[in-house]
Amino acid sequence: MFQKNVSLKAYNTFGIDVIAEKFAEVSSADSLASLLSVNKDVIILSGGSNILLTKDLSRPVVLINNKGIKIIEKTGDHVLVRAEAGENWHEFVMWCLKKDFGGLENLSLIPGNVGTSPMQNIGAYGVEIKDRFVSLEAMEIKTGKILSFSKEQCAFGYRESIFKNELKGQYVILSVTFKLSVKNHAIVDGYGAIKEQLRKDGVKNPTIQNISDAVIKIRQSKLPDPKDIGNSGSFFKNPVISEEHFKQIQSDFPDMPFYRISEELVKVPAGWLVETSGFKGKRYGDAGVHKKQALVLVNYDKATGSEVLEVARKIQNTVKTNFNIALEMEVNIL
Ligand code: EPU
Repeated sequence: MFQKNVSLKAYNTFGIDVIAEKFAEVSSADSLASLLSVNKDVIILSGGSNILLTKDLSRPVVLINNKGIKIIEKTGDHVLVRAEAGENWHEFVMWCLKKDFGGLENLSLIPGNVGTSPMQNIGAYGVEIKDRFVSLEAMEIKTGKILSFSKEQCAFGYRESIFKNELKGQYVILSVTFKLSVKNHAIVDGYGAIKEQLRKDGVKNPTIQNISDAVIKIRQSKLPDPKDIGNSGSFFKNPVISEEHFKQIQSDFPDMPFYRISEELVKVPAGWLVETSGFKGKRYGDAGVHKKQALVLVNYDKATGSEVLEVARKIQNTVKTNFNIALEMEVNIL
């Protein structure tokens, strides 16, 4: 059932070359259940777009690769679409656009697979998957049972869900169901970068396809393509600080960008904190910080996971010293 000593380089978007002593790919719930019945202490791998591998793995690695997209209900205005966990996220978004199903276009070009999208409630340009999410099915590793989770049960937050917290390591997501629009699409174009791109493209009344095209252009202009330069998107979460703390920093840096969350809380862009701390474009051997987006750590070629992690720690220490802010990693370290 398991292959021995498989390189995981092709299975993580950072392109880190570590070895899995045992590796299996499963493409159905049944084969996953039979594998789990004899191996419970497994590492589940999906699109590999949110992990940093720092060592060879002796625990068995299981790649989830079940495919399929199904329309499960259609009403006048909406459609429920279920996608299996192993579907590539961007290809799924493109499938929706082809059918003229609206709702996920702002999430175009995000690396990874459908199955891991709820794990950290992926989001970009004003939309998070929780906004379009209906339910998911997941297998409990301990029992092999398949359970359905509603939106409330997933306890979504900013880059958070119950699967990263209380239920961490306990379930394998098998499929996700989304509610999408079939007409009267709600266009989300309030994000500054989208407005600017639509203006450049000469688009006045954007369609969902125009939004997707704009998002793809924006992402391509500042985020490195993992096929060219290994990376895992934003490495840190944007921190939320108190109003008082924010005012202190703002008095030294009046131009600092920020998003107000409430009267007492302010979210500040981690990318700005990292850039202002002098790390943008810095390279340490083959590990480094992307030159166009300081929130993205990169593997230029043969960096090890530990080398990337060392850069991350250096950044955390400097940002803590400079701003008294503890940056939290968005990426899972293995
Ligand atoms: N900024 C800098 N320097 C940088 C990068 C950013 O000063 O090197 C400033 C920008 O000028 C801007 C602000 O920081 O004022 C925000 O930057 P940007 O719009 O690029 O977004 P972000 O906060 O860095 C977040 C998400 C991205 C998502 C974009 C768009 C997080 C951790 N990241 O990035 O998500 O695509 O917004 O919605 O929330 C991901 O999670 O992997 C990811 C790519």
